[in-house]
Amino acid sequence: MGLAIAIANQKGGVGKTTVTMNLAAAFAEEGYNVYVADADEQQSCMSWAATTDPSKALPFRVGSIAKLEKNIGREIANLANDFDIVLIDCPPNIANLTTGRVLAVADATIVPTNTSPLEMWSSQGMIALIERTRASSPEAKFAILVNKSNKKSILYRELSKLLAESSVLMFESTMSDRECYPQAAALGRTVFDATGVRAGKKEAKQELKALVEELIALLSNERTEEAANG
Ligand SMILES: Nc1ncnc2c1ncn2[C@@H]1O[C@H](COP(=O)(O)OP(=O)(O)O)[C@@H](O)[C@H]1O
Ligand SMILES: [Mg+2]
Repeated sequence: MGLAIAIANQKGGVGKTTVTMNLAAAFAEEGYNVYVADADEQQSCMSWAATTDPSKALPFRVGSIAKLEKNIGREIANLANDFDIVLIDCPPNIANLTTGRVLAVADATIVPTNTSPLEMWSSQGMIALIERTRASSPEAKFAILVNKSNKKSILYRELSKLLAESSVLMFESTMSDRECYPQAAALGRTVFDATGVRAGKKEAKQELKALVEELIALLSNERTEEAANG
């Protein structure tokens, strides 16, 4: 049985799609069989994959699950039977039911956020949804991923403080603001295999690998607890 990892935030533009696609490549690089499930009506992962040069396929599959409504959870479970890792790019809202349905079946949820006050505020709505979801799936893991940001900034410290007061984890790994991300996306590729893209690609790969390690640790911790609990 593979793992389902949701990437969700009610706000658009925080990097959900960028994280989904690049993290998929990072897992593929480690030898995992990866599926990206696009749950956003905007179908950004689908458009991204459609831009990819067909003679050099992405190292993971991309498909849409945006229209499945109440069957979305079952489809994610089916995909997790066939793949090691299923990454689900969620829509930028929590008002319709899709995000809640995805979170209810995900083993882990990554909430990308920037550190601007507006985005911190919108992540608080997300934290409320996480806390509600936790009540029904207490074993699921949730963590905030700071994207397009600088760990030395005052806003980063503010966000750390805000999260310390809630019980929501924050990944130690962050993704910095790097031009290679949009540049690779424009080519339908990721920072792992975009050619002719230079700005910060090596550092980007390092931060994504660190995120993969942190995720595996977070999830294997869950499995160890399960084993311990019989
Ligand atoms: N770490 C980053 N560095 C630079 N640009 C980024 C980064 N993350 C995302 N972006 C850019 O920000 C914009 C919004 O990102 P996107 O992944 O589409 O967000 P979402 O899916 O949450 O709407 C895109 O133009 C994307 O290329
Ligand atoms: Mg998106």
